[in-house]
Amino acid sequence: MFNLKRKKQQTVDTIDYENIPQHIGIIMDGNGRWAKRRGLPRSAGHAAGAKTLDKITRCAEKLGVRYVTVYAFSTENWKRPKDEVDSLMKLMVDYLDDYKRVLGGDNIRIRIVGRRDELSEEIIRKIDIVENATKDNDKITLVIALNYGGREELVSAARKIAEAVKSGRIAPEDIDEKMISDNIYTSFMPDPDFIIRPSGELRLSNFLLWQSAYSEFWFSDICWPDFTEADLHRAVIDFQKRNRRFGGV
Ligand code: FPP
Repeated sequence: MFNLKRKKQQTVDTIDYENIPQHIGIIMDGNGRWAKRRGLPRSAGHAAGAKTLDKITRCAEKLGVRYVTVYAFSTENWKRPKDEVDSLMKLMVDYLDDYKRVLGGDNIRIRIVGRRDELSEEIIRKIDIVENATKDNDKITLVIALNYGGREELVSAARKIAEAVKSGRIAPEDIDEKMISDNIYTSFMPDPDFIIRPSGELRLSNFLLWQSAYSEFWFSDICWPDFTEADLHRAVIDFQKRNRRFGGV
C-alpha cells in the first residue's frame, strides 16, 4: 500500500515529457522590487532578469518546449522614467550583441515581435542581424516581445486587413479568425499553451491578448530574477494537471 502511494505521488510530481507545453509565454515581472529589496537601482533588477531569461530559456529547451515568448518592453513602458527606459534599451542592445555567448550553442532561434518603427535604428539593425544569424536554429525559438502591446498588435492587423479590403484584394466577408492570426506579429508560431507571471501580479497587462484565448495561467510570488529551473519544472507539472477543453466537454 505504501509503495503504491509513493508510486502515485511520483507520477503526479514528475514531468511528463509527452505533455510538454509547446509554447510558454512569460511576463518577466518583479525586477524592480527585486532590486529595491537589495538597495539596488531598478536597472540592476532588469540586468538580473536578463540572466534569468537565459537560464530559463535553456531549461525550457531541455524540456522540449518549442517556443518561449517573453515580455521585455511593452508599448506602455515608454511612460517609465527616461533613465529606466534607456537602461532597458541598452540591456537589449547588449543582449543582441552577446546573444551567442549568453545563450550558448546553436540551438536557439531568436525573434523579436512588436512595433519596430519606434525603436532606435541601432536596435532595429541588431534585431535584423540576430534574427538572420539564428534563423536555422530549430530546437527552440526565443521570442522577445519588444515595444509590444496586444491592443496595438490588433490595431495594426486591422489596418493591414482594412487596406486589403480598400484595394479590393479581399471582401469584408473574407475576414475570419485565421486572417487575424495571420496578420499579427506572432503569425509564425502557435498560440501559447501556458502563460507564467511571477511577482504576485494577477493580470495579463496587454500581453498576447488574442493568442491567450485558451492559454493556461500560472502565477507565483517569486520575483523574476529569483525564478529558478525548479520553478519552471513546478509550473510545467501544474500545467500537466490541467484539463484543457478549448470550449468543448
Ligand atoms: C517588469 O518588471 C519588467 C520589465 C518591464 C522589463 C523586463 C525586461 C527584462 C527582464 C530585461 C531582459 C530582457 C532582454 C531580452 C534584454 P518591473 O520592473 O515592472 O518590476 P516591478 O513590478 O517589481 O517594479
